[in-house]
Amino acid sequence: MPPATTQITTVPLLDLVAQYAAIKDEVLPAVLRVIESQQFIMGPAVSQLEAEIARLSRAAHGVGCASGTDAGLLPLKALNLKPGDEVITTPFTFFATAGTIHNAGGTPVFVDIEEGTFNIDPAAVERAITSRTRAIVPVHLFGQMADMERLLAVAEPRGIKVIEDACQAIGARRKVGGRWRAAGELGWVTAYSFFPSKNLGAWGDAGMMVTSDDAAAERLRRLRLHGGARQYHHDEVGTNSRLDTLQAALLLAKLPHLSAWSAARREHAAYYSKALAGVPQLRTPVVDAPNEHIFHQYTVRVERRDALQAHLKQEGIGHAVYYPIPLHRQPCFAHLGYRDGSLPRSERAAGEVISLPIYPELTRAQLDRVIDAIRGFYL
Ligand SMILES: Cc1ncc(COP(=O)(O)O)c(C=O)c1O
Repeated sequence: MPPATTQITTVPLLDLVAQYAAIKDEVLPAVLRVIESQQFIMGPAVSQLEAEIARLSRAAHGVGCASGTDAGLLPLKALNLKPGDEVITTPFTFFATAGTIHNAGGTPVFVDIEEGTFNIDPAAVERAITSRTRAIVPVHLFGQMADMERLLAVAEPRGIKVIEDACQAIGARRKVGGRWRAAGELGWVTAYSFFPSKNLGAWGDAGMMVTSDDAAAERLRRLRLHGGARQYHHDEVGTNSRLDTLQAALLLAKLPHLSAWSAARREHAAYYSKALAGVPQLRTPVVDAPNEHIFHQYTVRVERRDALQAHLKQEGIGHAVYYPIPLHRQPCFAHLGYRDGSLPRSERAAGEVISLPIYPELTRAQLDRVIDAIRGFYL
């Protein structure tokens, strides 16, 4: 006989099947329409998604591309970096943020993060500027925006471009001078990823750039299509990095849900933070006062992380460490000369963070299960 009440045994880190079940009837017809048209490259679904994401970002243009990685790479390519040109960024991020700087021909310059938000520290950025600095790439990590107003105050007078890595922060916003400003609104170009696990996720790889610089938008459109505005005419060498039409149709069907999904993530985060506030070995996420966080990840700092991970695994609770090795300590960047202790706040964060399940469809019972497992471990 099955038990009268359902016992929750496991809580996955992410449950995309639950999301699919909830929106299946909306998304399948949209995807089917593309299949039935047999028009898989560009077309109205891509243009409409570009317009919608630009609107959400309060930017003039959206330029779809194949991934968040390419959305970071193409604006850096558009800067025509020369050997020795420097791009300042954070080491506490997904690898693509710095890999793209290298692949665009620049040198990544890593500076430390703020202790609370895990985002790049504007004071450290200012100290790192040299005559070779061409751009700054802040990452709106885990879904909350970096301190854009201070970064722009450092960058703009010097003619340095700010490229926002908003791959984890679609729909995030920040109050600047009493006004809400969106992720993607203030930077020169902003990169988004629609990787399946993102708050707005495709069924494969996809990405987009937004900008309000007309010339930059035109250049990015060329770069994603072999460097030519007209077919078989190539003004420069670009690549094939289009946003798939099937993915665009799916993302358009998902987009109306994004704001409610992010609100649900915020509610879950508030619930966790209240319940975990009394655990002295754990620090809940710090939200910078001007920010509206979209909680792509709910990331806490803990003591005895390895033992906690083993405990959560045993309890069937999904978790992950984003990111265990800061990028300045990756073997591929050894030639840059950073040492252990070079960027202590990033290194400390890498040793202490753990991310917990935060997807919108989580039930109260599942949240309680995670909370009980953590409290049971420490208290
Ligand atoms: C901060 C950050 N930058 C860049 C990327 C790269 O995006 P993608 O995986 O779509 O290439 C990601 C996501 O994976 C990311 O989280």
